Amino acid sequence: MSISFITEDSARQLIDENVARHVSKGFIKAGKGFTQHCIDTGRIAYEVANRIIKKHPSLARHLNPDELRVEGYMHDFGKILEGVEFHEVGASHQILRQGSGELGLVAGGSEFERGATVKRIASLIPPDFALYESLGGREFPENSPFPDKIGAFTERVDELRKELSPSNTPLSIEELALPLTLAQQVALYADLTNLGGNIVPVRDRINEIETRYGTPGEFYNKTYSTLTRKIRPRVLVVGSFIDSLLNA
Ligand SMILES: [Fe+2]
Repeated sequence: MSISFITEDSARQLIDENVARHVSKGFIKAGKGFTQHCIDTGRIAYEVANRIIKKHPSLARHLNPDELRVEGYMHDFGKILEGVEFHEVGASHQILRQGSGELGLVAGGSEFERGATVKRIASLIPPDFALYESLGGREFPENSPFPDKIGAFTERVDELRKELSPSNTPLSIEELALPLTLAQQVALYADLTNLGGNIVPVRDRINEIETRYGTPGEFYNKTYSTLTRKIRPRVLVVGSFIDSLLNA
């Protein structure tokens, strides 16, 4: 039996249930907005991957539309339990540990195949947004802009660096948290072109994020809005690269 992936309906249920269970933590409000964003990101990632493969069949070996779909569903899952800072670490780690078990993201195939699939999905998540800068870049962890929060994540970062590495050498922070592969870039593109389920230019979405975190109110997080400004050039490059593949 080959590998099968969680359906959109089951993913929706998984996210809804987890939001409801942890609503008292105060990170994600019950309601459909968060879940819908995750589902839309999965759908966009799947569609973008398929469109690229259709235009450029030689790139098919770099993109698995189903793995990208599941990544999209799960990319913000870490926010439910621990909030926005370092959420990519929480999500990636949880997928690695529970992806083929409790979370039910993949089924079928051999244990080895499920493990390898879960590992590929987990590796798409760390470069999703501003994790590289949040970790302090090459000065990890001393240079993190969230010194009071990073301690809770360093052990998991080190586990990810070891376990997501294709060799015996742990990944560097760049290799873990920057979008260096085409699949990671498609994952980032899906999140950063998704504004309420509509596909918008990366520039518009990054403006929206900067405003959301930079405006006093529910989402206010000054450091995050500064980080968003900082990552703008590098995510715009990813945006125009993927646009060029889609439009070539
Ligand atoms: Fe997102």
